[in-house]
Amino acid sequence: MLHGYWLKRYGIPGSYERVDVPPEELAAFFDRFKEAGWVGGNVTVPHKMAVIPFVDRIDDAAKAIGAVNALWWEGDALVGGNTDAMGFIGNLDELVPGWDRGARRAVILGAGGATRAAVYGLRSRGLEVALCNRTVAKAEALAAHFGKGVTGQGLDELEALMGDADLLVNTTSLGMVGQPPLEIDLAPLKPEAIVYDVVYVPLETGFLKAAKARGHRTVDGLGMLLHQAVEGFRHWFDRTPEVTEELRTLLSDDIRAKTPGA
Ligand code: ATR
Repeated sequence: MLHGYWLKRYGIPGSYERVDVPPEELAAFFDRFKEAGWVGGNVTVPHKMAVIPFVDRIDDAAKAIGAVNALWWEGDALVGGNTDAMGFIGNLDELVPGWDRGARRAVILGAGGATRAAVYGLRSRGLEVALCNRTVAKAEALAAHFGKGVTGQGLDELEALMGDADLLVNTTSLGMVGQPPLEIDLAPLKPEAIVYDVVYVPLETGFLKAAKARGHRTVDGLGMLLHQAVEGFRHWFDRTPEVTEELRTLLSDDIRAKTPGA
């Protein structure tokens, strides 16, 4: 729906299709990738690491994040890249222009796949990042993986860390439809802190609602999805597509239609 909208808007002949590739057919799929006419694609579970042997190189973001979510050609070389960090940051840039002026510290809840993209994006803008996760060992391991400027701790330290945060980000699955809510007392946050939730089903999570009610600037997860797609499209068609209000509405309506209560 997302890429179809842009292809139509810019009059580009092409399509964005879903292809179901069983793990045992990955090699055969890539043998025919170019001749089948693909200018690129996205990669999802369970192939985000499995595709690495089949690409000619992986970009720095994919290396640091440990996952490939996009493929594109650079000349004759097939690149496996990661556009999630750019998506995470592009969304912030759009919704809170100038957000990083004076922003020094971010606290991220979680230590999973989505966390990695957020850490990479925030480090690229020079912020110090504290990871708070239910399983402390996972937060510590991720902090060690990223090294300088990233620390890992348990949720018991969250309250103290929040007081110093310019940005609070949820990258856990809590608050997603079908999951328990994310219930955090936001009182320790500075009023000017920004609250970001990468969850986008529902479109406005309870966490964002609570942050809004306290007067915080908030950033939703749908925009991250839109902005990671901007990066893919740009690589494939050499054109930076616009995230229009019409596109946001198209996707929001679709999510609402498919998810009662979202
Ligand atoms: P993704 O790849 O989408 O980020 P994930 O790797 O499964 O998903 O990560 C889910 C995150 O949500 C983890 O940080 C997880 O915490 P644990 O590492 O302790 O499992 C967090 N999470 C999920 N359910 C949770 C819960 N009930 N309470 C606290 N954290 C939870």
